[in-house]
Amino acid sequence: MSNQTASGLVQTERCTTVEELLSLPDDVRVAQLSHRLLSIVAEVLGVVEQEILPDTPFSQLHAAWADPGQVYASLSGPIQELIARPFHSYEFWRLPHRAGPIRSIRQLAEHLSREMAIPAPESTYTDPYQGGTWSWGLPAPRPNGASKNRPAAFVLAGPRSGSTLLRVMLARHPGLSCGPELHLLPFERMARRHRLLTRLGYPWMEWGLEQTLAALAPQGAEQAKQRAAQLVQGDVSIEEVYRLLQGQIGDRLLVDKSPSSTFHPAYLTRAEDLFEEPKYLYLTRHPCASIESFVRMRFHWLLGDHFGVWNPNPWLFAEKCWAANNRHAIDFLGSIPPQRQQWVQYEDLVTDPRATMQRVCGFLSIPFDDAVLHPYQGISATFELGDPNLLAHAGIDPALATAWEKNPPPQRLSPFTKDVAVELGYTVD
Ligand code: A3P
Repeated sequence: MSNQTASGLVQTERCTTVEELLSLPDDVRVAQLSHRLLSIVAEVLGVVEQEILPDTPFSQLHAAWADPGQVYASLSGPIQELIARPFHSYEFWRLPHRAGPIRSIRQLAEHLSREMAIPAPESTYTDPYQGGTWSWGLPAPRPNGASKNRPAAFVLAGPRSGSTLLRVMLARHPGLSCGPELHLLPFERMARRHRLLTRLGYPWMEWGLEQTLAALAPQGAEQAKQRAAQLVQGDVSIEEVYRLLQGQIGDRLLVDKSPSSTFHPAYLTRAEDLFEEPKYLYLTRHPCASIESFVRMRFHWLLGDHFGVWNPNPWLFAEKCWAANNRHAIDFLGSIPPQRQQWVQYEDLVTDPRATMQRVCGFLSIPFDDAVLHPYQGISATFELGDPNLLAHAGIDPALATAWEKNPPPQRLSPFTKDVAVELGYTVD
């Protein structure tokens, strides 16, 4: 039974569960979601549903909603209940996709409907870079003989590899300073970094440096924000920023865990240009686990078509990201002496953290410290740039090594992906 309502939406019998919504044709699902969202918005604003139309911009529904951040803050909780999964702020803002924030109930319903039924890709890819745009640019090589910073270590990892967990484990060691993601290596100077990250829709990549400065400076967050702004205004070079951080951590070894380091092989070469004898911890994870997490977390709304790999199908985009980032790391490490690289499988890290971290500490030339096995002790309760799910756990969870097997990605992996996986010691179908 269906009939037309005042809002112009076709009214059908209401579905109550996500499974029921999923069973509907796309247009009916959008209509159902629109109805539910109308009710939610009416309740939040304290008005009757009939006063709201699905196409009215949020900014016209409430004065405070001229600020999209307020729309997200008001609606994300009820939306989360409706769709039975987190509704991430980056899905709402859509920053790297030039679409602007979601503006109306209808746009929201269309988005939620699409994300409920992400289709399997129709084919595999052959070349991960085909169809991708490269927008980040490459820093010029430094002149031979330029002075280098004292040694540091870098965590290399593809997306959703458990790198934030490894970071907080390392951060517990008194001999290391391993703060939130810095995203410095791909750039030469701070002004261009700021301009590019703002223009392309990655302002969040600037948060980690601010958070690191705040943690190192007892004066607190506001002063750290100002300090970060000064680094941009003064167009400070990236090696100077690293030097500044190294100056503030005393004898501790700086460990930089920033996923952007593997976006391009030239970024990894920069580590060699900027630091004396840097070390590399290469964290790997089964491609299916990383792909499943990437899509479940809707990272296709956090990252866009700027890093040379792209596909409008989220499953394929996730696979290409995994394959390209790991390819870059493997190729780069091929030119690095064995004593300066350590490969670590996520699966070992979570199922045998003691033995794995003993190996890692030995590699970093620091004594093993039991603290690294308790990453959640004394952990900051405020979000630090990295895995949004980190604080959803209370300890190292070994079950996540194989959890993806219950819900594997729907695609047949491409031969390119399989080759990389096999090089990393993973079994793939
Ligand atoms: P999911 O939460 O989607 O499963 P990264 O930090 O490289 O982005 O990786 C994030 C992934 O690390 C998480 O993805 C999760 O699988 C894993 N992870 C995070 N915290 C963990 C914990 N406490 N124990 C085990 N694995 C964890």
